[in-house]
Amino acid sequence: MCPPTHFRVTYSINPWMDPAKPVDLPLALAQWEDLRDRYRALGHTVELLEPRAGLPDMVFAANGATVVDGRVLGARFLYPERTAEAEAHRAWFRAHGYTDVHEPEHVNEGEGDFAVTASYLLAGRGFRSTSLAGDEAQEFFGRPVIGLDLVDPRYYHLDTALCVLDEAADEIMYYPGAFSPGSRRVLERLFPDALIAGEADAAALGLNAVSDGRHVLLPQTAVGLFTPLRKRGFEPIGMDLGELLKGGGSVKCCTQELRGTPPGAAG
Ligand code: ARG
Repeated sequence: MCPPTHFRVTYSINPWMDPAKPVDLPLALAQWEDLRDRYRALGHTVELLEPRAGLPDMVFAANGATVVDGRVLGARFLYPERTAEAEAHRAWFRAHGYTDVHEPEHVNEGEGDFAVTASYLLAGRGFRSTSLAGDEAQEFFGRPVIGLDLVDPRYYHLDTALCVLDEAADEIMYYPGAFSPGSRRVLERLFPDALIAGEADAAALGLNAVSDGRHVLLPQTAVGLFTPLRKRGFEPIGMDLGELLKGGGSVKCCTQELRGTPPGAAG
């Protein structure tokens, strides 16, 4: 995670961002700290990336890389406003014992567009990442990539429309309206038991959630998801990240998951 020390909305690269709407920075910081503390209270380790001035979107750490089995596929941002974040992430990994850190050739915005399940690497495309990013990820991770076309600009990253609930069991939740008809059929075919989110919960950015396989941290306003999650045996935990929402992100955007330990690490 990366604290929102320099968070502001000074430009608009997604429909959620309106530079005319002021951000309450102390509140943004408090909301972010709440999320960080909640992870820690659940027993998860939280690593921190040093925020840099002039990179207001750096708080959305999910976009900086994708890590599977301790191997790191770096990011390449579409918009120049965020370009410099990619190197900050790669530098963090190199400094923390990750030896396999790949600088990508094609635009990919990390876990914004890549989601990992036991069987697949799901790859969103259409607004930020391209299909070439999916090809590159498949070659790097040696996992089958399933390309999914995003068609609604409000859901410009895969993680705004789809969330992996249980990685090992290939269990996901998603909002069908964010995907092209063909991609919807692919999702129905691969995940027939998925939890289907409705329009209102999607619009609350309720799919921008993080699950550890038991607890699901999600925007608290996505009220329609709580009961279906409980019925499946998950414990939903509502978070208020209202200030970060002004940048177009919530729980998942603020969280990059470190899957596996770096090669050679003890433990
Ligand atoms: N303002 C950021 C952007 O548009 C928000 C990124 C949200 N991150 C995410 N993982 N969806 O790039």
